Amino acid sequence: MAVYQATASAPVNIACIKYWGKRDTKLILPTNSSLSVTLDQDHLRSTTTSRADASFEKDRLWLNGTEEEIKEGGRMATCIAELKTLRKEVEAKDAHAPKLSTFHVHISSFNNFPTAAGLASSASGFAALVASLAQLYALPVTPSALSRIARQGSGSACRSLFGGFVAWEMGVKADGSDSFAVEVAPQSHWPEMHALICVVSDDKKGTSSTAGMQRTVQTSELLQHRIKHVVPARMDAIKKAITAKDFDTFATITMQDSNQFHAVALDTDPPIFYMNDVSRSIIALIVELNRASVAAGKGIKAAYTYDAGPNAVIYALQHNLREIVNLTMTYFPQSQAFNDPFSLYAKGQGVPGELPLPEGFNPAVAKKFEQGAVKNLIHTRVGDGPRALDAEESLLGSDGFPK
Ligand code: DP6
Repeated sequence: MAVYQATASAPVNIACIKYWGKRDTKLILPTNSSLSVTLDQDHLRSTTTSRADASFEKDRLWLNGTEEEIKEGGRMATCIAELKTLRKEVEAKDAHAPKLSTFHVHISSFNNFPTAAGLASSASGFAALVASLAQLYALPVTPSALSRIARQGSGSACRSLFGGFVAWEMGVKADGSDSFAVEVAPQSHWPEMHALICVVSDDKKGTSSTAGMQRTVQTSELLQHRIKHVVPARMDAIKKAITAKDFDTFATITMQDSNQFHAVALDTDPPIFYMNDVSRSIIALIVELNRASVAAGKGIKAAYTYDAGPNAVIYALQHNLREIVNLTMTYFPQSQAFNDPFSLYAKGQGVPGELPLPEGFNPAVAKKFEQGAVKNLIHTRVGDGPRALDAEESLLGSDGFPK
């Protein structure tokens, strides 16, 4: 008996120009375009195996080993249905193609980072789901076409169908056919772009992006200003900065846009706060780092950005990471040693958190926090798009259930 199965992995992406607001909540059509950097799957990824079999009684999904309901008419069901429709087209054109569109699927997905870390897993998760089904169904479609489907799972997921620097063009059509992701530049264009994720402790249950952004759409006047008068120019400017590898401009726009996203959250009724004292202290450190660097004629060294939670993502060029990790660990002592995938602190480079602060840096801009305020630091970089994996990497056993 033939086994019809495929495994794919997909990356996390972190936006520089934030998506916040929908004009159509069912199709997930945004109120503004957005732009992100895809992070390296060697460090953060979702892996998904999909299998179609005539014996399966219904579509089923397991997330990190636990079965999740596929709600009728829900986001997951929509993505699966869209991909089955494309498979039908393949079967209509090729009489020899097995009728996989008529079989149910079993899908098993795994994130290599804890969901509790508060890192958006829906983007990589839906991108891996769509990539694995597209592979299973041998769909002759572009990543942009797949991004249109992933978008209906979670808006930000559409940007995880590409590596490098990715724009989600909002489109204008009511049916969403022109709302999809495109590559602005591949990973290879600017591989020196690195990212440091500061996982910030958070006990409270925050407002979900889905609920929060619609409250902003309904109540914030500032959002209307943002989508009409701010984002279009920023999209143009940041694309140019990426093309020119102009870090100063890239960083300036990234920080401005994070600030404005959190401003429209605050302008929502009732107001939404995603950042906490630790988040704000990290901003103070990066602002001071950049001030001292610009004063010394060296330009901007780092850009912070925050999504719908307190975690910071710091974008910086590789050669500045040693200084940034040291700075962060000086103010936020860690319980474990720094996990150093790029060997910043190879022999002779000292211990992070114990090295001198940068020349001219005013140490009084933030207080030193207790151990644990920043739980973990993850050093990664710009990465590639979804990967097709070998059969050995399958998450489903020969019985078609999670291993
Ligand atoms: C702040 O993509 O999680 O991370 O489309 O409702 O699933 P839904 O929302 P989601 O929102 C992400 C919001 C953000 C900004 C961004 O990634 O652009």
